[in-house]
Amino acid sequence: MSITKKYFGKTPDGKEVDMFTLSNSKGMVVKVMNYGATITSIIVPDRLGKLDDVVLGYDKLDDYIANKLYFGAIIGRHANRIEDSRFIINSTEYKVTKNEGENHIHGGLIGFDKVVWTAEISTKGQNECLNLGYFSVDGEEGYPGNLNVKVTYTLTDDNALKIGYFATTDKDTVVNLTNHSYFNLSGQGSGNILKDEVMINADKFTINDKNSIPTGEIESVFNTPMDFTKLTPVENGINSKYQQIEFAHGYDHNWILNKDEEKAAEAFDASSGRVLDVYTTEPGIQFYTGNFIYESKNCKDGANYSNHSGLCFETQYFPNSLKHKHFPSPILRVGDEYNNSTIFKFSTR
Ligand code: BGC
Repeated sequence: MSITKKYFGKTPDGKEVDMFTLSNSKGMVVKVMNYGATITSIIVPDRLGKLDDVVLGYDKLDDYIANKLYFGAIIGRHANRIEDSRFIINSTEYKVTKNEGENHIHGGLIGFDKVVWTAEISTKGQNECLNLGYFSVDGEEGYPGNLNVKVTYTLTDDNALKIGYFATTDKDTVVNLTNHSYFNLSGQGSGNILKDEVMINADKFTINDKNSIPTGEIESVFNTPMDFTKLTPVENGINSKYQQIEFAHGYDHNWILNKDEEKAAEAFDASSGRVLDVYTTEPGIQFYTGNFIYESKNCKDGANYSNHSGLCFETQYFPNSLKHKHFPSPILRVGDEYNNSTIFKFSTR
């Protein structure tokens, strides 16, 4: 496994952005830039050994800066939504940026996806590791506490990309980090993901209101189109007259992971034979079928994107957790370390 670094561009305020290329002995290549700690490419073989890039993205830094879809980026401090853009920690109310109507989404106007991270390469055993760092100051987007964040990317020879998430704070705060890659296992730009089969190891999910905010209710997936306990084609349920799906124009919900086995989710694309397995320490996963990908022309390698061009597995604490005491707490206390990881592992069959 090796990592190389190349200049990629400059932000409008003059900060240098580099592109890091992680390669393994199986021909898998992952590209990550330090703007937004963003995954810009994942190139993996299909069942015949043909290589394709399986994540949505752009060729140019300017397009990532203008991007409102969070392609490949790290999301923080809080992935997904906070109702009314406020929450209480230790009896103090904090107001965070309203950037989706009255609500807060994906860390605010300038979330961790829109900042330049520090980057260094280190060696861990057999593997080189890309370490990205960001210091989020007290009050940024309304969040309390100076937060020291580190995200690590490691590519191993079994075609697994491991993302490590770490953070410490000097004031009790909230942390909920995820990666927002949009996968298309037939190759980015090759059409939609509706024929993909998906498994989510979850018997329950959190019910949303019409603004995609969890109400606190927890529902069984069984006998509903939310049942992905066995590999199921996305197209089977995505257009069903089930209120939760109608609200979101497709799948865009938090599944509560069973945690009885290591694997959290899987996607299988029968045409290429590519399999994506997801492992995580997090309690939930937002399975999102790209319902709001607007028509975009001339994206990465000239690709055009539209609705359902990719799917996301956003491992996370449940959205709106600060409002619901029975959800796992995303609060990080002074002296504790936020330490979570997610693995995206690729294979074929
Ligand atoms: C959300 C979607 C949203 C998308 C892009 C997902 O995490 O659940 O509702 O459209 O991110 O912001």
